[in-house]
Amino acid sequence: MFSSLVFPVLFFLTMAGRTTGQILSCFYEIENFNVSIIEPSLCTHIILIGSSNVDNIGHFQEPPSNVTEEFVKLKNRAPVKLLLAVTGNSAHFTTLVSSEATMQQFADESLAYLDRSGIDGIDIDWEFPVWSWGAKKSDRTRFGDLLRILRQKYGTKKLITVDVAGPPTIAKYSYQADYLNKYADFVQIMSYDYHVYDPILNPVVGFNSPLRRLPYERGILAKMNSDSSLSTYISMGLWKNKTVFGIPTYGYAYTLFNAFINEPYSLATGSKGAVTYSMVCPAMLKKKNIDYKFEWDYPASSPYIHGRDRTWISYEDPRSVTEKAKYAKEQQLAGGMVFDLKSDDYLGLCANGSYPLIRTIKSVLFDKN
Ligand SMILES: *[C@@H]1O[C@H](CO)[C@@H](O)[C@H](O)[C@H]1NC(C)=O
Ligand SMILES: *[C@@H]1O[C@H](CO)[C@@H](O)[C@H](O)[C@H]1NC(C)=O
Ligand SMILES: *[C@@H]1O[C@H](CO)[C@@H](O)[C@H](O)[C@H]1NC(C)=O
Ligand SMILES: *[C@@H]1O[C@H](CO)[C@@H](O)[C@H](O)[C@H]1NC(C)=O
Repeated sequence: MFSSLVFPVLFFLTMAGRTTGQILSCFYEIENFNVSIIEPSLCTHIILIGSSNVDNIGHFQEPPSNVTEEFVKLKNRAPVKLLLAVTGNSAHFTTLVSSEATMQQFADESLAYLDRSGIDGIDIDWEFPVWSWGAKKSDRTRFGDLLRILRQKYGTKKLITVDVAGPPTIAKYSYQADYLNKYADFVQIMSYDYHVYDPILNPVVGFNSPLRRLPYERGILAKMNSDSSLSTYISMGLWKNKTVFGIPTYGYAYTLFNAFINEPYSLATGSKGAVTYSMVCPAMLKKKNIDYKFEWDYPASSPYIHGRDRTWISYEDPRSVTEKAKYAKEQQLAGGMVFDLKSDDYLGLCANGSYPLIRTIKSVLFDKN
């Protein structure tokens, strides 16, 4: 009885006394899983995503054992922390948080897995509490209950991190800062996927991860940028020393309506999906003799390219990720997060060594000046 009363107090003292340090967490998507392409010394944390989820009855689904075994081997190559991202249909998370018993079981099962495997913690990727089909209003507070229960089970021996939505509208609906501050080791803002093409509602080109608003953006559009997301979370009360700023290495391609009308927000006839840096870096395009015009947008701190073939691409380059990492550093956040390893030029095809974007982010974040 006595110990169960003092536990929370002791526990919060321990958490508050923890020094944050500089974080560079890097996601690794499970598709075409091959750990030998990962350079574990690039990142402080590597997060495996796509192999674990919450099932339809709210239970923890662990990765296949051969995946876990390979993933854990990264620890032999560098002193990196390894995290397992838990994803899943939002309605399944709602099921999970609807019952105290289910949350307890989830905490037990995930902890057993972490202990058994040697993985350092979990990263909760619920997209998004309250916001999605099948969601409930109570998700917002019950998410806090889930984090509290996980923390009570894990103590300080395993990490708990949370991925939160970029768009400020979702942020205010989905989360409360108090439980994020209290129970999460850090909180990663997914500051990307701001522009969603829709043939009827939004048939235009746009930036995947604009740093600041463009001068002519109004209303909700003026908030669809990384700077606006961060200030929303800070105004909600999220501590800067818990906040990790998301930077993508991928971008998106679109088909313009007219090749000569190619500014951001120009009419598009379709979306061509995600692109990696090595698909669009200048060196590779030159090698393939593809003639694109390279542009830079100052407020967005983002490049884009367009061509006679009506292709329009928003992506990241060393300059854009430098601006974004500098911003995170100036804001005195806990660090940066990258999505993901494989969409950087991991093979060094862009003629500047392997992982040029992540290496750049790392040098900006950890540069002592
Ligand atoms: C983090 O920031 C909060 C709010 O500014 C502060 O109360 C807390 O002590 C800080 N924690 C650490 C470890 O610096
Ligand atoms: C994994 O990546 C390494 C390094 O690029 C490569 O040599 C190897 O063939 C890959 N393995 C598989 C199964 O693709
Ligand atoms: C793990 O095992 C499954 C089933 O045997 C196999 O299909 C899969 O390719 C394996 N994955 C890895 C990363 O070895
Ligand atoms: C290659 O890297 C250097 C150093 O980070 C940078 O200054 C240069 O702009 C990069 N070149 C290309 C083509 O990305």
